[in-house]
Amino acid sequence: MKILVTGGAGFIGSHVAEAFVAQGEDVVVVDNLSMGRRENVPPGARFVEMDITTDAFTQFILDERFDHINHHAAHMELRVSVERPVHDAEVNILGSIRMLDAARRSGVQHVTIASSTAVLGEFVDIPATEEHPVRPIAPYGVSKRAMELYADYERLSHGMSITTLRYTNVYGPRQNPHGESGVIAIFLEKFLAGQAPTIHGDGLQERDYIHVSDVALANTMAVQQRVQGTYHICANSAASVLDVVTHLRSALATPCSVHHGPAKAGDPARTRGSHAAYTARTGWSPVVELSDGIRSTVEWFRERHETST
Ligand SMILES: NC(=O)c1ccc[n+]([C@@H]2O[C@H](COP(=O)([O-])OP(=O)(O)OC[C@H]3O[C@@H](n4cnc5c(N)ncnc54)[C@H](O)[C@@H]3O)[C@@H](O)[C@H]2O)c1
Repeated sequence: MKILVTGGAGFIGSHVAEAFVAQGEDVVVVDNLSMGRRENVPPGARFVEMDITTDAFTQFILDERFDHINHHAAHMELRVSVERPVHDAEVNILGSIRMLDAARRSGVQHVTIASSTAVLGEFVDIPATEEHPVRPIAPYGVSKRAMELYADYERLSHGMSITTLRYTNVYGPRQNPHGESGVIAIFLEKFLAGQAPTIHGDGLQERDYIHVSDVALANTMAVQQRVQGTYHICANSAASVLDVVTHLRSALATPCSVHHGPAKAGDPARTRGSHAAYTARTGWSPVVELSDGIRSTVEWFRERHETST
């Protein structure tokens, strides 16, 4: 199968590309390297530096005739989406429409798109199923929701085969530690540099952390099983920021210190998703325990830190 992974030089996309390469697929990665890194692209995948908002990208899809497109390229900084909503929409909405339109015109058999539980806004039901109200509270969630709706339109009106996967908080090797989200990568980078990260508020806010290898597996199963519709990809377990710090201290075997700062406005107390629907549909379920996932993430960051110092 010839597969395009957009955003495949980024954190999650590079793991998805790696999983497809391991299955013997013919993998092409497109990324503009705005956030991704060339060295993240797995050996065995062809890399094309390109922006998904350009006519060249449309033409590329039409020329290459992929069997499957896996769409991970996106703008994903929530705070920046508030400051630059037009840029967020150009990449996440227009770039996604461009991909879907070219995919249909070129006869792509299946598309998987990466969405986010940020589309839900405040979590009113815990754990959140796919029936949860959708009321995004930041431009990032709005743009991801718009992408989902365009995918629904293509599925319903043109019969395209599309899986929409909504992730909670993904973590693991290659996550950018300089972004605004990704508390595990951010804290880990600080601890390795001998610095104390800031916990916003009391640290009791709970998140649903899912390891990137589980997410990659959910993606390969989506195309294998031609899954249709929208599903939550999550661990259905909650860990507080203080729990994360405890796991990091244990994996690093050092008593790393932290600061407490003011709580972030709009930071929800709890988020947690249910993956029951995707499990029932595909048999997928997450296998990486948070403590194990953090330990292997620590090993990867530590190795990278040692080679760069
Ligand atoms: N990390 C998470 O916890 C999480 C949670 C929910 C959803 N997601 C979604 O998963 C996807 C991947 O996220 P990630 O954490 O790997 O982020 P990432 O920033 O590491 O990856 C995104 C990639 O897209 C590329 N990109 C951005 N704009 C582009 C453009 N105009 N043209 C081509 N490439 C472009 C970036 O260079 C980067 O390599 C995104 O769609 C994101 O919204 C991530």
